[in-house]
Amino acid sequence: MISRAQRVLRLNDAGEFIKPSPRQYPHQWNWDSAFIALGLAHFDLPRAIAEVRGLLRAQWRDGMVPHIVYPTGPSDYFPPPAFWQTQNLPHAGPIPSSALTQPPILTTVVRMFSERTHQQSNGNATDYVLRFTHYAFPHLLAWHRWLHTARDADGTGLPCLIHPWESGMDNSPLWANALDHITPAILPPFKRRDMIHVAADERPLAPDYERFVYLIDLGRRLCWEPRVLLEQMPFLIQDVLFCSILHRADEDLRTLAVALGEPTAEIDGWLARTRAVFDARFWNEARGLYLDYDVRSQTPIDVNACGTFAPLFAGLASPEQAARLVAEHFDNLAEYAPSADSCFRLPSAAKNERGYAPRRYWCGPVWIHINWMIAEGLRRYGFDAQADALERDSLALIAESGFREYYDPRDGRGCGADDFSWSAALTLEMLLGSRSDPA
Ligand code: GLC
Repeated sequence: MISRAQRVLRLNDAGEFIKPSPRQYPHQWNWDSAFIALGLAHFDLPRAIAEVRGLLRAQWRDGMVPHIVYPTGPSDYFPPPAFWQTQNLPHAGPIPSSALTQPPILTTVVRMFSERTHQQSNGNATDYVLRFTHYAFPHLLAWHRWLHTARDADGTGLPCLIHPWESGMDNSPLWANALDHITPAILPPFKRRDMIHVAADERPLAPDYERFVYLIDLGRRLCWEPRVLLEQMPFLIQDVLFCSILHRADEDLRTLAVALGEPTAEIDGWLARTRAVFDARFWNEARGLYLDYDVRSQTPIDVNACGTFAPLFAGLASPEQAARLVAEHFDNLAEYAPSADSCFRLPSAAKNERGYAPRRYWCGPVWIHINWMIAEGLRRYGFDAQADALERDSLALIAESGFREYYDPRDGRGCGADDFSWSAALTLEMLLGSRSDPA
């Protein structure tokens, strides 16, 4: 499995970046690159570092790190770089990119590189990684600052997403209600290309996709100006998974700051503010769940999806909250636990959720990177048996169905793209990571 996983990453290496998959996603994606780098570091640290440097080179002047980077120009992928209309924006970056961002898991990965090379105490590698950490730190700091300020609509510092793609969970049932309230008045001409290599019933439905395009069109008409976007975008959501990944990333950024002798006061401020508002914004005591929040309509989004476990990854849950998440949801046969008709964990939406669809992208299939983050979170709270079960399921899915983009939780059949990079990268991390990372 290790050599097969390495082969997938080599196969998808486009030189300047590693594609998430050979055909379906021919450019560089933000959180994909972070997970890919984590896996690569197990056998080619220079390539892992080049992957991160490539992504950070595309950072916008205002601090945003974009969700798609097109270093090699257009392909048969929609949307092409020109569709974003970012060419003449003073705050855009030096490389053609999308105008949206994605969850900042990158900072956590950079911290893991830095700690692991220290533990291995190999002088040359330590110097090399230290130089890289010096380079990466100001970029990451600027990105976090942008998330906590340019995307802060209500003074909480919890970033708002302006498009479902920013969550990384494109068509999750979490967005159904917000998208239902959007009527695409005028749609620019476009041609979907996401169903050439993947079956239509594993991809978003047409009305969702039209809204994705409509929101891009609105954003570009607002010149992607952060303040105006916060005022005018009809989709404005604070997401539990995104905010949890950011909080964990803030912790990891602080660790990097201390190691580099950089000041920590600003990061401490973000950490304290998130801790102060997180429960009031997201925790639903009656259901024992974290729920997303629709900032536009000022209402919680009453949908039970996989991100509800992400506060464990960030250390944001109290032991009591963690115990409820596990007993009432993770181990609940009707929601996330294996049952007679669904053998694999973790469905990306609860099985009893209205929008649950076991083969349709983010509406139910199992995703390996989500499993990895949640297993890390479960371990953080001492739920080792649950974490081991999740990791076992991930490896069983990969062993039976290959390195796929996502998997049907009922029978483990692979869905979406083939030869998927982060499924390969996280296989390496699951099989080799604990050896080099006692934490
Ligand atoms: C899809 C996923 C997103 C991922 C991208 C590339 O858009 O929803 O999370 O980053 O594909 O793999």
